[in-house]
Amino acid sequence: MAEFDVVIEHVYKTFPGDTRAVIDFNAEIEHGEFVSMLGPSGCGKTTLLRMIGGLEEVSAGHIYISGQDVTDLPPSHRDTSMMFQSFALFPHRTVFQNVEFSLKMRGLEKNLRARRVWDMLDTVGMDQLSDRRPSDLSGGQQQRVALARALISEPTVLLLDEPLGSLDYNLRQTMMVELKKIQQETGITFIMVTHSQQEAMSMADKVIVMSDAMVQQIGTSRDIHENPRNQFVADFIGNNNMFKGVIRSRSGSMVFVEAGEQLYYIRVPEHIRQVSIGQEAHFSVRADLMNTGDNPEMANKVEGTYVATEFLGTLETDVFELDPGHFVHVEQHRHLSDSTYRVGEREILCFAADSGMLLEKNQRPEDLAD
Ligand SMILES: Nc1ncnc2c1ncn2[C@@H]1O[C@H](COP(=O)(O)OP(=O)(O)OP(=O)(O)O)[C@@H](O)[C@H]1O
Ligand SMILES: [Mg+2]
Repeated sequence: MAEFDVVIEHVYKTFPGDTRAVIDFNAEIEHGEFVSMLGPSGCGKTTLLRMIGGLEEVSAGHIYISGQDVTDLPPSHRDTSMMFQSFALFPHRTVFQNVEFSLKMRGLEKNLRARRVWDMLDTVGMDQLSDRRPSDLSGGQQQRVALARALISEPTVLLLDEPLGSLDYNLRQTMMVELKKIQQETGITFIMVTHSQQEAMSMADKVIVMSDAMVQQIGTSRDIHENPRNQFVADFIGNNNMFKGVIRSRSGSMVFVEAGEQLYYIRVPEHIRQVSIGQEAHFSVRADLMNTGDNPEMANKVEGTYVATEFLGTLETDVFELDPGHFVHVEQHRHLSDSTYRVGEREILCFAADSGMLLEKNQRPEDLAD
């Protein structure tokens, strides 16, 4: 177990009143990894982070840090540091004093303290503003001070709860890059909670997707983007088109899925072992793998009615309605001179068999093995 910084083993948290905030959480986090915990509001992210830091008791299960079982240890005996969303800086102390605080508490000698603080202020780019008080800093600057304060004790693991949540869009983009850079420079393991899939996917080496108190998938950003395992993950992560039908036949790693009058030819990913004929099936197709026009090389074709185009920079997404209420997004790299659709126009949409991703059912507590 020593090669992992953090091991979370069958961890549960039930609050009084029977709120099950975390159910059978398992994860292994390597030294120096940047991990994001991603999920909708209330799914248990903060609770899990607080349990790792020792601020919340574990109802069942074990947490190991650097190979040591810390499940019953207080926060001060764990090699973790936590950065809260509200920053919680001391308002009457300067930037320097805020960062220095924990070293002073530990009784470190003055010159040594000063050296460490200046180093850290330099790392986060705040050495020029060391005499300011928090109220005289911008949100982004306060965020850097909070980060410096959390890092100064050189924890094995830094726990960050929505660290960029209160920043506006532009600042968030800048701080995302900075945070990643600081993480790489310090080599400290970061576990960051967020409900922004863009933040999670762009910064993390490993993404843990949660919903309903349970882990839905753990993987690299690419993994989760290209191989979502279940309906929740496919739906929550970016631009996936969702389809539903019934499995009519299977041949090797392919299945036919019937949806209304349509028959789709879809790949069964390796991790799905059992597929039964007649079973309800869900699959997803990424918007960037959907095409318009009749392409004879694509196994799947379906007609849709053009509804609208969404713009995001240079990328356009055309939206078609297949059946009432079932919309499909098609990413287009369109030039100014290219033609566009009229609302109500019919178009053939197609995608390759390999682009369809058969999905498992979501993780639910009632399906847990005893
Ligand atoms: N001290 C508590 N007592 C009772 N229930 C709690 C307590 N803390 C959290 N909960 C409940 O546990 C569940 C998970 O809460 P948690 O704060 O971990 O969610 P979250 O994923 O961090 O959500 P958000 O994105 O909104 O911050 C919620 O249903 C919440 O109401
Ligand atoms: Mg939270």
